[in-house]
Amino acid sequence: MKTFHTIAELRTALKSERLQDKRIAFVPTMGNLHEGHMDLVRRARQEGDVVVASIFVNPMQFSANEDLERYPRTLTEDQALLESNTCDYLFAPSALEMYPDGKRSQTQIEVTGLSDILCGATRPGHFVGVATVVTKLFNIVMPDCAIFGNKDFQQLKVIEDMARDLSSNVEVIGVNIARADSGLAMSSRNGYLSAEELSIAPTIYQTLLWAKQSILEGHVSYANICEQALQKLEAVGFERDYFEIRAQHDLLTPSEKEKQLVILVAAYLGKARLIDNITVELP
Ligand code: PAF
Repeated sequence: MKTFHTIAELRTALKSERLQDKRIAFVPTMGNLHEGHMDLVRRARQEGDVVVASIFVNPMQFSANEDLERYPRTLTEDQALLESNTCDYLFAPSALEMYPDGKRSQTQIEVTGLSDILCGATRPGHFVGVATVVTKLFNIVMPDCAIFGNKDFQQLKVIEDMARDLSSNVEVIGVNIARADSGLAMSSRNGYLSAEELSIAPTIYQTLLWAKQSILEGHVSYANICEQALQKLEAVGFERDYFEIRAQHDLLTPSEKEKQLVILVAAYLGKARLIDNITVELP
């Protein structure tokens, strides 16, 4: 696997692949890679002739009070993991390479509406940072397809809408959530959890399963289910952010007729803000 730190070097390498008509599959990440990311790389291997991953802890998607500085940076370990999963190219730029003008006002990409709800309400500006950096990465890599995890359900929706609205040529593909045996969704932020918190954290998935079962059993007060779910989480030590039942296609409050639902949760445990989700298909 070749690692490039500059846009120019990566473009040169990918140009020659493209001239040979190779299909390029891209996996954007912020590093500190785990098995969930490797699922994305394995899917990319199935989708493309050439697999490109990126590692960039994007300052634009963190607000001032968030974990940008302490976000784990593990480039050497990540390179070994990518190499053993047959990734061809790694793009690992500096912040200066990606944002040469720093914080000077710059072009931003915003999927309006969708960016302000759920995680966007708690993390203002986050999805503008995500959509902007993903657009830049798409322009740099020019992939045929790009692979993202379903754990960030709202992020995936923002990227799908952004790609569609900007007439992007990139096919956006979502991959199922990778879970530990305990049910806990894999996440780089799980590394912030103490041993005790790690034993509590799977409650988040158990609560999603409970809520899904309640919906399937015909409980129609979604507000009630969500409030009970938050109380279950608080009872074991989580602090609430949100627990919501939404329509899969636009993430808005579902109408009574809506059959394709998604339950989304964000909650704090110690220093970590954990997110997870589960889809529900009503008959
Ligand atoms: O999901 C992530 O790791 C990041 O939000 C992404 C998509 C790589 C953009 O920085």
